Amino acid sequence: MKVGIYPGSFDPITLGHLDIITRSSKVVDKLIIGVLYNSAKNALFSTEERVGMIKQVTSHIPNVEVDSFSGLLVDYAKMKNANIIVRGLRAITDFEYELQIAQANHKANPEVDTIFFTTNVEYSYVSSSIAKEFARYGSDVSQIVSPIVIEKLNEKFNHSEK
Ligand code: PNS
Repeated sequence: MKVGIYPGSFDPITLGHLDIITRSSKVVDKLIIGVLYNSAKNALFSTEERVGMIKQVTSHIPNVEVDSFSGLLVDYAKMKNANIIVRGLRAITDFEYELQIAQANHKANPEVDTIFFTTNVEYSYVSSSIAKEFARYGSDVSQIVSPIVIEKLNEKFNHSEK
C-alpha cells in the first residue's frame, strides 16, 4: 500500500493546498495530511482548529486522513509507514527551499522520497499568509480559501460576514 504524507502548517488551509491534496490523493492509496504542531510558531489557528477545517474541506475525498505531528517529518513518516512526502511548488523560490529539505529528508531516511506537484496557475500567488492578511482587513478571500475557512477567519477577526 502506497502511503503519502502531505505535511504543512495549514494556518489555514487554502484552495492551493486543496488542489494539491485532490491531485496527490489520486497517486497514492492513502494520503495523510500532517499538520505541524509547532508551539514556537505563532499560528492564528490552534492545531485542533486547523485539523478540523481540513477534515471539513476534504470530507469528500475517501482516501484522505487528517492528523497532526510534532518533531521530525521523517520520523513521523516512518511511524505512519509512509514513504512518499508530497509538497506543492508555486515558484522557483519554493523550489530552492524545498529541494534542500527534500534532500535532507531523503538523507535522513532513504526510504522516503518527496514528490512535487506544481501548483495550478490560478493559485500560484496563494498562501495562508495572504489569506490571513486580506481577511484581517475584511477583504474578499473567496478566491483563495473555502467557505468554511472564510467563516473561521471572520470569527477570528470579528467580522460578521464577508
Ligand atoms: O506549510 P509549511 O510551513 O511550508 O510546512 C513546512 C513543514 C511542516 C513541511 C516543515 O517545516 C517540516 O517538515 N517540519 C517538521 C520538522 C522537520 O522535519 N524539519 C526538517 C526539515 S526542515
